[in-house]
Amino acid sequence: MTKIVNSWNDFDPLKHVIVGRAEHSVIPPEEPATSEKVPIDSEMRGMWGPRPLETVEKAAAQLDFLAKTLEEHGVKVDRPTPLQWNQHIQTPDFRNDSMMTCMPPRDILLTIGNEIMASANSFRCRYFEYLAYWPLMKQYFDEDPEFKWTQAPRPRLTDKSYKHNYYDEQISLEERLERTANKDFVTTEVEPMWDAADVLRLGKDLFIQHGLTTNRTAMEWFKRYYPDLRVHAVNFPGDPYPIHIDATFVPLRPGLIINNPQRRLPEEQRKIFEANDWQIVDAAQPAHDTPPPLCYSSVWLSMNCLVLDHKTVICEASEVHQMEQMDKLGMNVIPVPFRDAYPFGGALHCATADVYREGGCEDYFP
Ligand code: NVA
Repeated sequence: MTKIVNSWNDFDPLKHVIVGRAEHSVIPPEEPATSEKVPIDSEMRGMWGPRPLETVEKAAAQLDFLAKTLEEHGVKVDRPTPLQWNQHIQTPDFRNDSMMTCMPPRDILLTIGNEIMASANSFRCRYFEYLAYWPLMKQYFDEDPEFKWTQAPRPRLTDKSYKHNYYDEQISLEERLERTANKDFVTTEVEPMWDAADVLRLGKDLFIQHGLTTNRTAMEWFKRYYPDLRVHAVNFPGDPYPIHIDATFVPLRPGLIINNPQRRLPEEQRKIFEANDWQIVDAAQPAHDTPPPLCYSSVWLSMNCLVLDHKTVICEASEVHQMEQMDKLGMNVIPVPFRDAYPFGGALHCATADVYREGGCEDYFP
C-alpha cells in the first residue's frame, strides 16, 4: 500500500510537494472582497487583465528553479494544470469577468494528515481555481487508498457575504489598524469563508488567522470538522491588511517560531506557546523597502520561507537579513531567487502546498 499524502506541520522532513504555476495569470477585476485588499496607494488599483508576458516568463523560470532545487534535495515535485484564467465565470449567485491564477497553491490546498482539502475562498475570482489541482488529486486518490480528497463547503459569495462600501473612502492606515484590532473585516458571517494560507498547522493544534480572508464562521466550522484537533483563532493587530498567516507567524522547528515584529501575537495568545516552552522570536527586517511591481503582498514576504526539515530552510536569495538570522538560529539555508514570482501571490511557502512530510500528529501543547 502506498502512502502518498501525509503532513501535520510545516517543518517535518518534506518529501513531496506541489509547486504553483504562473502561466495565464490575470490581475482580476475589482470585486467586493478584493478591492478591500489592494492597498490604497497601490499601482494596481483599478487595473485588471492578463499579467504582462515578460513577468509571467520570469516568474515561471523562478518557479521551475525552485522545483529543480527541491528535487535536488530529494523532494518529489508535482505541478498543477493551469486553466485559461482570462475567461469570465458564473454561478447562480454571481458573475465575474475573470479568474486569477494557480499561484499560490498554499491559499487553496490544506493538507492535514492524509487529507487534502480545497478551501472556501472569499474571492470570487478564485472560485474555480481548485480545478487546476484536480488532476493531481485524482492521481493521489488512485495511488493512495487512504487519501481523503475533500472540498470544504462552497461559499455562495452572494452580495450578502461582504460588507459593502467597507473601504470606499480613502481611509487612513490608523483606521485600518483600528478595524484589525476590533476584528472588523470585509466579510460577513453568512457562511464559512477561509483561505488555506490562514491556517497554521502544528499537529494537534490549528492556529487560524481571523482577518480579511478568513471569518469567524470558518473557525466554528473547523472546530466541528476536526473534533480531534484544537482550533485557536489568532489575530495580529499590527497588520492593516491581514491576509494569510505565513508572512506573520512562521514555525521553523518544534519549539521555535519567527513572528513579524510589526504584527506581534498579542500577550493573551502567546500564553499557550510560553507555557509549552516555545520560543517566539522577532523575524529579521526585510532586505527591500518595497515589494516588486504589480505585487499585492508586503515586503514581509522575506520571512515566507519553506522549511525542508528541522535544520534546513529555503529562503529568498536577496533576503540577506533573514538568511543571516536563520543561520544564527541553527538552520542551514538554501538561497533561491524568487522575487520575480512574488507578484503572482507570494514567496516560497505560499508557492507550495504539502503532499508528504514525515512525522505524525504530535501534541506540542498538551
Ligand atoms: N499578506 C501578507 C503576505 C502573506 C504571505 C503580506 O502582505 O505581508
